[in-house]
Amino acid sequence: MSTTEVRDQNRPPEPTEVGSVFISNYPPYSFWDESMVPEATQALSCAPLPDATLGLYLHIPFCRLRCKFCYFKVYTDKDNTQVKRYLAAMAREVELYAAHASVAGRPLKFVYFGGGTPSYISSGDLRILATRLKAALPWEGATEVTFECEPGTLTRSKLETIRDIGVTRLSLGVESFDDGVLKENGRAHLSEEIERCMPWIRETGFQQLNIDLIAGMVGETWSTWKKSVARTLELDPDSVTIYQMELPYNTVYSQDVLAGRLGQPLADWAAKRAWHDYAFQELEAADYEISSAYTVVKKGRSAGFIYRDAVWHGTDMVGAGVASFGHMSGVHLQNSPDWNDYLETLEAGNLPLSRAFRTTREQRLIRELILQLKLGRLDPEYFQEKFQVDILKQFGPTFRRLESRQLLQMDGGRLQLTRDALLKVDLLLPEFYAPEHRNARYT
Ligand SMILES: C[S@@+](CC[C@H](N)C(=O)[O-])C[C@H]1O[C@@H](n2cnc3c(N)ncnc32)[C@H](O)[C@@H]1O
Ligand code: SF4
Repeated sequence: MSTTEVRDQNRPPEPTEVGSVFISNYPPYSFWDESMVPEATQALSCAPLPDATLGLYLHIPFCRLRCKFCYFKVYTDKDNTQVKRYLAAMAREVELYAAHASVAGRPLKFVYFGGGTPSYISSGDLRILATRLKAALPWEGATEVTFECEPGTLTRSKLETIRDIGVTRLSLGVESFDDGVLKENGRAHLSEEIERCMPWIRETGFQQLNIDLIAGMVGETWSTWKKSVARTLELDPDSVTIYQMELPYNTVYSQDVLAGRLGQPLADWAAKRAWHDYAFQELEAADYEISSAYTVVKKGRSAGFIYRDAVWHGTDMVGAGVASFGHMSGVHLQNSPDWNDYLETLEAGNLPLSRAFRTTREQRLIRELILQLKLGRLDPEYFQEKFQVDILKQFGPTFRRLESRQLLQMDGGRLQLTRDALLKVDLLLPEFYAPEHRNARYT
């Protein structure tokens, strides 16, 4: 029995309540508003700020099935004609962006095909999409092009297409290697499909393979989790991303819990942290290093996560696709989350923005500070240089509070989260929020 398991038995319960959130931005989305869309339009028409980097996020909202834990904007009922119409509208969106002064002529640092399931798209449609997107915003010079995949949608030839369009980082949504867990949670694939696509991925050749796992899906036990970690290690990916299962309001399971019909116990937070910690320990022992609260990378390989690092350091980003988020010159933007509205607005030649938020310098500082805290460490010199702020002074009381709870080590100006803090970092971030943003709805 590991030390984690011993600790596991002596802990108070911390139930997984419906409404938990994964913090990905600041100020919270609930403060973004339609009335600020003109500010966003204005920011798009101005030259970019000096030294700002630019990235492109593309939301592909199609999946074979909707996983019962998933909170992303996805559709499972669109036929090929509708998919083609969507991809054409999204390409049009990128072309419209490329004509704006804030974007025109700027090199892309990263591209991220996220979802939903980008690998749901057929090879033919992907090639057409990539050709049109690259003509508007070339990505040959980008440092990283990530593409999210669901194992059961991959074929050898689709992987070749994905490589040929320039993808450098293939991210595989494995989540678990246990068929009981995969089935219960409504995943469209079983372990057989993961094993089937792995040799194809190796043969096709990608700079970086990332595997996503979720700790604490419904039905997870120590035994299923250990099996998933062990098989992940055997497959030797360049990086592994581990999420603890969240239950925001809009998942199938959340509705089941609220209606009292789940019929199975949900792992509590302490169990999920123990599983997450166990995976970190096993991966560290196999020469991986922790690069953030969620990601480990294999030492000695050129594995990284440029998209994450750029977003957490305040990059400009064109967010294309239904409900997509972007950021330009200090303004947050979000697209319409409505299928018809998104398509019809673009087909009429307009950007489908639905809400925005112009950030203050102080809000951008807090945003970067909380997002970078997810790396497990903060570099006060970075903030001094970028914002001319001594974070040790400005956030001194909060840092000292975390230190007194053994969550943070402050050593000669270095700020480092303890392992316990890293495993629950999302819970700690609101302590840095401005008072008006605390205890508010997040989305
Ligand atoms: C857009 S999906 C990845 C690609 C593809 N759709 C798939 O699932 O295979 C991004 C990742 O979010 C994570 N995720 C989704 N819902 C989650 C939840 N409720 N809690 C924690 N992680 C979640 C999963 O690890 C998933 O791989
Ligand atoms: S987790 Fe991935 S495959 Fe499952 S519904 Fe969400 S986006 Fe689709």
